[in-house]
Amino acid sequence: MIYINYNVRFIDIIKEHISPNIIKQNANGLPMTIIKVLDNDTIDKIAAGEVIERPASAVKELVENSLDAGAKEIDIKILSAGKKLIQIVDDGQGMMPEDAELAFQRHATSKLSSIDDLDTIATMGFRGEALSSIASVSEVTIATRHESQDSGTRIVFRNGKVIEKGELGMDTGTSIKIANLFSNVPARLKFLKSDRVEMSHIIKVVTERALANPDVSFTLQNGEVEILNCRASQHLEDRFLDIFGRKAAKASVKIDAGHDDPISVHGILAKPEISKPSKDDLHIFINLRPISDRILAAAVADGYAGMLMKHRHPVGVVFIQMPPDKVDINVHPTKKQAKFSDPKPIASLLKKAVADALGNTDLIREVGGDFQRTLESRAYVSQPPEQKKRTGRDMSVSSAGVRPIASRPSTHWPPKPTPAQPHLFEEDANSSGQENCEDHEVPGSRSMPSMVPIGQILETYILAQSGSDLLIIDQHAAHERVMLERLRNADIKIAQQKLITPLTLELSPRERELVDHYRQILEDAGFTIEPFGRTTYLVRAVPVFSGSLEEPENILAMVQELVDLGKARSIETKRDEILQLIACHSSIRAGEKLSISRMKRLISEMHELDNPFNCAHGRPTIIKMTDRDLEKMFKRIV
Ligand SMILES: Nc1ncnc2c1ncn2[C@@H]1O[C@H](COP(=O)(O)OP(=O)(O)OP(=O)(O)O)[C@@H](O)[C@H]1O
Ligand SMILES: [Mg+2]
Repeated sequence: MIYINYNVRFIDIIKEHISPNIIKQNANGLPMTIIKVLDNDTIDKIAAGEVIERPASAVKELVENSLDAGAKEIDIKILSAGKKLIQIVDDGQGMMPEDAELAFQRHATSKLSSIDDLDTIATMGFRGEALSSIASVSEVTIATRHESQDSGTRIVFRNGKVIEKGELGMDTGTSIKIANLFSNVPARLKFLKSDRVEMSHIIKVVTERALANPDVSFTLQNGEVEILNCRASQHLEDRFLDIFGRKAAKASVKIDAGHDDPISVHGILAKPEISKPSKDDLHIFINLRPISDRILAAAVADGYAGMLMKHRHPVGVVFIQMPPDKVDINVHPTKKQAKFSDPKPIASLLKKAVADALGNTDLIREVGGDFQRTLESRAYVSQPPEQKKRTGRDMSVSSAGVRPIASRPSTHWPPKPTPAQPHLFEEDANSSGQENCEDHEVPGSRSMPSMVPIGQILETYILAQSGSDLLIIDQHAAHERVMLERLRNADIKIAQQKLITPLTLELSPRERELVDHYRQILEDAGFTIEPFGRTTYLVRAVPVFSGSLEEPENILAMVQELVDLGKARSIETKRDEILQLIACHSSIRAGEKLSISRMKRLISEMHELDNPFNCAHGRPTIIKMTDRDLEKMFKRIV
């Protein structure tokens, strides 16, 4: 008799192999007892189900075997998301003829010969049952030639049994073809998802192995479509580029921490502007093994501290190196999860490594190609039909068809305004008309360059020049960040201004409750709010820099938004959300006219911040257009 901890998939497999009348069922249709010793074939299939859940698990096992065999080139071909065919060819050391057959027996492994070896197999884990599992649920053809042999061996397996064996001429290495996966286990086939979903699992698996092994070349082909083509390189940067693309590579930062310590972290992450709506583009490895761990993924996201917008997630790759005895990666049969003796120090190291890397870099977003395309398409739409046609053709031909307005880049940037030009900005009342922009230069800081404000457009964005870059600052977003940091910084006592006539607020019971509840936080932030009668509150003082909060309707709007914050988790989160709210309501608004000196002041305030690049909600505060971008847009260069 065997005792089985059953689940639904497992039961389906058992039902296929055992006559229904010997399975006693309970009221829910689940088997109560099974009085039968399962045959080896069934046991193999059940065990296979643990290791090989879906085509991607087979791909993973095969790629890992190729890597274990020292392959430097791995080519993978897939048909019908792996349900029809998975073929993998490597140039590794290959197998001896006798090993080729042995490898397909359960618990056959060259990785260890005794229990004493267990500890030494630190990096890749072991089970020695991947090939036997795959062979028991598919038709396998292996062709392999060991480096010491003159010829290769070809074996065909069906249902885990050898049905053909022979010799063949081939290069050193191994080629394994898996056809019709799960065709003999319909229950498992039934649980597979659409081709698109299964293929995405395969891509994930290959991507992870490719990231962990930049010195190995990988190709992945789905039918006729090439999905991945990663050339071998000694540099992780090259692999990052091949996997995540040029845009992410251009906006990436290296992380590196704990070099000589027992636990170290390195990797490459994209800057916040390249974030993704799903969590799938952050790959975390422990001792080169990909793992999925919520705490560690959250630690990386925390390192971005407010730079990511809501529902956006980091992109990149992080490698954690640590003593193998501090982590168990074999807790799950498919080795996806890790168990740590203590995850906290790893998480905090990770968070700090990410924060340091992002803190030491220029996080101003570049406008680049996308913006240019948007401009071009807008220009295209707004032109009269005749001109439209010509522009369209011009854009599609070579640079010979595009005539630049000037033959040489101007040395004057920004162009000096002439009387005919509209002024971009309102001068200060006391400023003396034409001022040299140099006078306005705001010196640079750790991560933000020095810049000269030029003016304001749409009464919403500040234009500034920094070296040969044009910077565009969202005045509300930027000021909101400044205000938030001031509010957050407990060391700064927020100065209050008493209102000569207190503001009266009529509050609903829910609003009153909230104001009472958060009174201390509001007071810390510079407000004095007191109850006055049953439904009325008086605002006697506001923070000195409260700006638009001096208007009663703005204070009221803010209090009303407080109601929506009811769901925040901890008091700390709540406090921060309230501060964000105050910051938002008290900062310069979009549509507000600014003098040059106010712009200059705002830029100086931004320079004082650790992170001036995102507003409290993670939106960018500042974007950059380089001289090259401008030249491209004006077709001075192509
Ligand atoms: N592509 C390959 N090139 C050379 N040898 C291989 C290859 N694939 C498998 N082998 C040999 O077959 C053995 C069995 O492989 P299998 O994947 O079943 O188990 P394992 O790799 O030893 O352990 P596990 O996959 O559970 O970590 C390996 O130990 C290795 O000796
Ligand atoms: Mg293996």
